Amino acid sequence: MSTLITNIGELVTNAPVAGDDAVPAGPGRFAAIADAALVVEDGRVAWTGPAARVPAADHKVDCGGRAVLPGFVDSHAHLVFDGERSAEFAARMAGTPYRAGGIRSTVAATRKASDGRLRANAFRLAAEMLRQGTTTLECKSGYGLTVDDERRSVTVAAGITREVTFLGAHVVPPEFEADPAAYVDLVCGPMLAACAPHARWIDVFCERGAFGADEARAVLAAGRAAGLMARVHANQLGPGPGVLVAVEAGAASADHCTYLTAADVDALAAGATVATLLPGVEFSTRQPYPDARRLLDAGVTVAIATDCNPGSCFTSSMSLCIALAVREMRLTTQEAVWAATAGGARALRRADVGHLGVGARADLVLLDAPSHAYPAYRPGVPLVAAVWRAGELAAGAVPAA
Ligand code: NIG
Ligand code: FE
Repeated sequence: MSTLITNIGELVTNAPVAGDDAVPAGPGRFAAIADAALVVEDGRVAWTGPAARVPAADHKVDCGGRAVLPGFVDSHAHLVFDGERSAEFAARMAGTPYRAGGIRSTVAATRKASDGRLRANAFRLAAEMLRQGTTTLECKSGYGLTVDDERRSVTVAAGITREVTFLGAHVVPPEFEADPAAYVDLVCGPMLAACAPHARWIDVFCERGAFGADEARAVLAAGRAAGLMARVHANQLGPGPGVLVAVEAGAASADHCTYLTAADVDALAAGATVATLLPGVEFSTRQPYPDARRLLDAGVTVAIATDCNPGSCFTSSMSLCIALAVREMRLTTQEAVWAATAGGARALRRADVGHLGVGARADLVLLDAPSHAYPAYRPGVPLVAAVWRAGELAAGAVPAA
């Protein structure tokens, strides 16, 4: 069964180009076709090209000149929790700085929640993301911080995505305050053993007030030994060792990158670690935005993600993050859309998403707008008209023929 999606005003493909050795496998550079069409077959992209030269197909969807993008890839989110922290946000807006310690109040609420409630919360947020065009999401544990609570967190996460991250090293819980080393041993031992079968990734919050460089190295090494790949919360609240630890561990991504030294930028440029920027966090914590231009100009691969969580940033909107990246971090509209699709795929080491080259998973977003520039040009406006995941309409409505 094949479906022709045609009369697309602008089709962003980010398609890999054969022979482009500068680009690893998976998505290519930003690429778009004007007046385009696309054929989906068995959940995959089978053909893209000009609408004037479409092949035959079983079904036809007419986009009326509107734009189609690859589905957004949100490579950083914390969706397994209970409770909310709007009072902390309000206090922050009145001048109280963001501190890592706020995580503990969500830990207390999460530990008390029933399994069903945690599952329902996570499903609701994942559905909210899908309606806004996110077709691939990563989801972390990290608000349980006991063996049983982390195990159930990764299990809940596995119910909404295959990109599950074990983040037992989110913060030292209160009961280990006097002996953080014992907590690191727990994370690297029984907690990891309980969580690794349900996870693909291991993460650590490497920051003053959370975990230091040596602790982070120990956590990532234990994770690697258990078959998990590394990603790191790095340099969010101040300069620190997180980025260098991430690059040295061969992490897929160093996330936040708000405070970077020249050595951090050089290390990212020389290594294969993606810098995942989370501009919703700077918006919601009133911190300075990361110097994205410096990273891009140095040749670092940049992704954008939401970091959706109840503390530092409670948005699920990739469109908002694109708008912030363009307005506040000076990405071009093309760079921002690339970072929110192909960049996220690179941060998750996925070759099948983030682009619409032939063979990619047919994850598409139809915008109620003529070009990729609109999420930034019309910030805050719900422009996602329809979402296909693996070729199936998953949200919104197909335009009437
Ligand atoms: O990515 N930085 C650490 N973790 C989250 C915040 C979690 C929270 O405040 O609850 C983040 O910003
Ligand atoms: Fe985070």
